[in-house]
Parts: sequence; C-alpha cells; structure tokens
Amino acid sequence: MGFIEKESKSLLQYRSRRVFTPSARTAMLHILQARRRADTRGILLPSYIGLSNTEGSGVFDPVRASAIDHAFYRVDQQLRPDLTALEEQLRSGAFQLAFLIHYFGLPQVDVEQFVALCRRYDVLVIEDCAHTLLGGLEGVRLGSYGDYAIFSIHKSIATMDGGFFIDNTGTLDSTSMPAEFHISMSTLVEFADTDIETSSRRRLHNYQAVAGWLSSIPQLQLMFNNIPAGAVPLNCPVIVSQGKREQLYFKLIEREVMPTALYHTLIPEITPECFPHSHFVSANILNLPTHADIGEAHLVRYEQILREVVSEVFAT
Ligand SMILES: Cc1ncc(COP(=O)(O)O)c(C=O)c1O
Repeated sequence: MGFIEKESKSLLQYRSRRVFTPSARTAMLHILQARRRADTRGILLPSYIGLSNTEGSGVFDPVRASAIDHAFYRVDQQLRPDLTALEEQLRSGAFQLAFLIHYFGLPQVDVEQFVALCRRYDVLVIEDCAHTLLGGLEGVRLGSYGDYAIFSIHKSIATMDGGFFIDNTGTLDSTSMPAEFHISMSTLVEFADTDIETSSRRRLHNYQAVAGWLSSIPQLQLMFNNIPAGAVPLNCPVIVSQGKREQLYFKLIEREVMPTALYHTLIPEITPECFPHSHFVSANILNLPTHADIGEAHLVRYEQILREVVSEVFAT
C-alpha cells in the first residue's frame, strides 16, 4: 500500500449513513422496536397526527405496532411545540424519546433548542423529515440535529414508495432488518436517477409564487409568514377563513387543481378537549400543491383558477 494511493480505497467517512426502507413508517418502526428493546420508557409525540382511510397513520401506526408507551405534547395554531408543557412531560422521567415532526418540511421550532431541552432530560430525539427529502438546501439540514431522522422518498419524488432513516448516534444495528424492511431496487434506482436538488429548487420557486398570490387573497392565510433560508416546503399550507375549507377543497378539485388537507382527520387519541389548537388547524388547513411538476406555464392558469374559486366560494 502506498502512502498516497492513485485512487481512494475507502470513502467510509463520506457515506451518508442512510438506511433505505420501503417507507418512513417502516424506518420509524425499526427505530422504535430497537429502542423499546433497549429501554422500557415511552415516546412523546406532537399532538398533530393524521389518519386516512386509505393510508392509515404514517406516524401513529408504527407507534402502535411497536407497542411503545406514548403521550402527546401540545402544539399551537402554527404547530409550534409548547416547550413549557413539553418540559413538564420530560421531567416526569417516563420517556426515552421525543418525536419532532418538521411539518410540511419546515422547522416549526428552534430545532437546536428543542434537542438541547430533550438532552437535558436524557431523552433522545427522532426528527420526522418525511416532508423534506433533502432537509433543506443550505445550512444545517433538518435530520442532522436529533439522534435519529426518518425520511419519505415517495412524498417528494415520483416513486410509489421508499424511505430511509439516519442514525446520528451510530449505535442502531440495522444489519439484521427483515427483508420487508428493505427498499425495492426499482425505487432505489429511481431515487438515484432523480435530480432532487433541482426539483427541490423548482418546488421552492413554486411555493414562493403561490405564497406571493396570497397577499391579495385575504381569505386564505399563509400558515407560515417567513420560511427560513434554505427550507423547501412540501406544499403551501394555508388556513381557510370562515369555515370554508371543505367547499374550497372540492371546488378546486372540480377545476382540476388537486389540493390536500394535512391533516383533515386527526387520530382519535388527540381529542378536541385536550388539544383545541390541533383541531383548529385540522378543520381549516388546506395545502396547495407546489410540487416540481408544476412549471412556469401552469402557474398562470393555476393562479387564475385559485382566484376564481375563492371568489365563488366566498361570495355565498
Ligand atoms: C409527518 C409524517 N411522517 C411520516 C409519514 C409516513 O411516511 P411514509 O408514507 O413514507 O411511511 C407521513 C405520511 O404518512 C407523515 O405525514
């Protein structure tokens, strides 16, 4: 072996440490099962977790399947964790994990502060980056603050499935994951073949365009007025005023603009009595598409349809 070789023999230090799975929920299940074997204490979850007839609950299903004890921490109407309430729960000593969802690919809280608070109580943090494949385009990326991070491939690029996790602790044994916890080769190839950075820049551009229209559509209020530099929102979440979310949702679909409402239904464990802010968001949120298939040519007509539909819905 020479002192300076012709080519590198090992780039181990540069490896991404991603472990690829069929979905973010499988990644989460793997982490929860491993943590539960190591420690009997539970997990703290944010009180904004959805449920759908077709997909179940991407967050809560693995919690249930792992049988780990759990409790919910409060969030406000911008889905920001209530750190004072969270600290009370951390202080109880009943939890080994705190789950932090970066809703719509954006940090809702100072992530460093959140992680530092959990560390003070010896609680590990799982970042849920299911809504941001890159974790951002500049600066410290989401997914690198906590102890573990889970990601969903199919939410950001056009695959049928796919996810991965990152173990920032370097302690999780993933060599013996069962076959059904491994990503399919076709999804992996599609992931490798997609220029995620360029498509993320397009997504960000579309977010900025749609968010820009809203300054003159007062019936729709942007959920987040400022997005941090480098963040790439999954879509454009707005709060629809006057309880017209449902109407607007269906009228847009009639005009072939397909929004979502993340999450229109919360898991029943998150009750309106205990978590009124979560239920306010759930009842009024609408997520306008900003994905990277929307090109410049689509935006003009998209804006026109949105304005027409809003005028129609709010005229009655
Ligand atoms: C915040 C969040 N985390 C995790 C998941 C699960 O993602 P996947 O469909 O890749 O399992 C979802 C979606 O269901 C989600 O919205």
